[in-house]
Amino acid sequence: LASLEVDLGKIEPGQTVTVKWRGKPVFIRRRTPPEVALADSVSLNELRHPEPDSARVKNPEWLVVIGVCTHLGCIPLPNAGDYGGWFCPCHGSHYDISGRIRKGPAPLNLEVPEYKFLDENKLLVG
Ligand code: FES
Repeated sequence: LASLEVDLGKIEPGQTVTVKWRGKPVFIRRRTPPEVALADSVSLNELRHPEPDSARVKNPEWLVVIGVCTHLGCIPLPNAGDYGGWFCPCHGSHYDISGRIRKGPAPLNLEVPEYKFLDENKLLVG
């Protein structure tokens, strides 16, 4: 299947769900207002791979990223690490609440896949 429809209605604020798309995990995080503020508050010169949060989301409440560590491809764990986002246990990469690499060996931010909102509660990945 090229595209995947995801029902967002059951995802609580602060929760991350993992769906599978083209054989890869995709993390969908419903961010709380403090998480959005945190993601926004980071200045670009603190980032290894400088991308503003606003360039990584279509709607700040929803972060959608491919759940594959950009180091060597392990699957990072949600709600873990030093930056409130994900932690990759393989070699210790920490990603923030925008999926941006903050510490550890990974060179790049978690990749944002193609997606769009079909309506308020429906996401189409791909
Ligand atoms: Fe994630 Fe190495 S694969 S830190």
